[in-house]
Amino acid sequence: MTKKLYISTYGCQMNVYDSARMADIMAPLGYTITETPNSADMVILNTCHIREKASEKTFSELGRLRNKRKAKQEANNGDMIIAVAGCVAQAEGAEIMKRAPYVDMVFGPQSYHRLPEMVAKATRGVGQILDTDFPAEAKFDSLPKDAIDQNLSAFLTVQEGCDKFCAFCVVPYTRGAEYSRPAADIVDEAKRMIDGGTREITLLGQNVNAYHGLDPIGNDVSLAELIYQLAELKDLKRLRYTTSHPLEMTQDILEAHRDVDILMPYLHLPVQAGSDRILEAMNRRHTADEYRRIIEKLRAARPDIALSGDFIVGFPGESDSDFEDTMQLVRDIGYAQAYSFKYSARPGTPAATSDQMVPEAIKSERLARLQELLNAQQLVYNQSFAGKEIPVLLEKEGRREGQLIGRSPYMQSVYVNSPPHRIGRIATVVVEEGNANSLRGRLKSGSVADAA
Ligand code: SAH
Ligand code: SF4
Ligand code: F3S
Repeated sequence: MTKKLYISTYGCQMNVYDSARMADIMAPLGYTITETPNSADMVILNTCHIREKASEKTFSELGRLRNKRKAKQEANNGDMIIAVAGCVAQAEGAEIMKRAPYVDMVFGPQSYHRLPEMVAKATRGVGQILDTDFPAEAKFDSLPKDAIDQNLSAFLTVQEGCDKFCAFCVVPYTRGAEYSRPAADIVDEAKRMIDGGTREITLLGQNVNAYHGLDPIGNDVSLAELIYQLAELKDLKRLRYTTSHPLEMTQDILEAHRDVDILMPYLHLPVQAGSDRILEAMNRRHTADEYRRIIEKLRAARPDIALSGDFIVGFPGESDSDFEDTMQLVRDIGYAQAYSFKYSARPGTPAATSDQMVPEAIKSERLARLQELLNAQQLVYNQSFAGKEIPVLLEKEGRREGQLIGRSPYMQSVYVNSPPHRIGRIATVVVEEGNANSLRGRLKSGSVADAA
């Protein structure tokens, strides 16, 4: 009998990867993925704790699920297992069990490989199950080797956890200490993905450039070395990695950007703030000028590289002049795209107890100004592509009939008119228009047939 599993994923790409692995784990137990929670036999909320808003979604979502389960039971349509996974589960496991006693199981990002045991217990009706261990056995070793579904563009977690302890951030507490998977395991997983049809892989880690795995004879492998190994794999067309920390933007990674064809010219390198005083208070361990110099070197190695970043406005103690330093840094760098957030005090982090909180109205005002600048940079960047020819990996059908959506090497979404059989190919697109959030273009005639 097949059962229906609905997984709702919040937060970062690591959660997307984890949700896909949970689906793999549940498949042998007879669970297939469904797109709606309504009549699901099991629902997993894979949650994010990074900011208050993200975290609160968990409880409102749980309330809705409780009603859906009731409706299902009343219609004599069986039961629904309700599970909370991810970073809120890790950080607030006991609190969830208390506030939502109808939840069957709560487990963190490092223990979801124990799902089969937990599901077996839940169906025996043993009461609420909490598993927020950081188990000694490596989760990755226990994951199934045969993934059910391979995307054209897939995520592959190579490193997890964080030892940096930025003063605002919950990740070191929810994901635990830095851990790098052995290089051979990653290469094997990449091969399986490619065999299943994947053409683009994004290597994931909270600090992906801090990756230092081991090879089979115990030698250290850096992220750059891993990239060179993966670049050898037949039929892999594109490689990316995210998220990096400026401290570990080492020379060998810069060189990989210069030398590895399939390593895409795009880098997400969060800086958070442009004021040295604030960077120090954040415990970022580098200055704004050091960041500028990394970007200079990167552009020397790969002149067309597109830059993305993360920014926090209103960190405790941020003055008007500190904020102006952030604006200046953004003007100096010129981003292709970026994310920006209001500081959100997170329980258990050092910054949360500061007595220099910035008022909400000032945070909102600063965020609006920063986003206006970033949006303007993004538009200018996209517009600069008009008339250019770029290789686009055609990924899926667009909303309009006859339209496909692909990605440029620089991470832009690209809309073109093309029949669906070209999905999976890399086509040369002549860009006709650059817009705020995407490019629009046409296929260059004859460019698709010769692409793989
Ligand atoms: N590991 C990555 C990012 C992890 S979280 C890195 O080190 O860059 C993603 C982004 O969320 C961060 O870069 C930061 O900009 C933002 N963020 C993290 N904690 C936050 C908080 N307490 N308030 C607001 N934004 C936060
Ligand atoms: Fe959080 Fe800093 Fe670690 Fe990134 S480097 S995950 S922002 S503590
Ligand atoms: Fe959120 Fe956890 Fe990722 S807190 S951003 S889901 S590591």
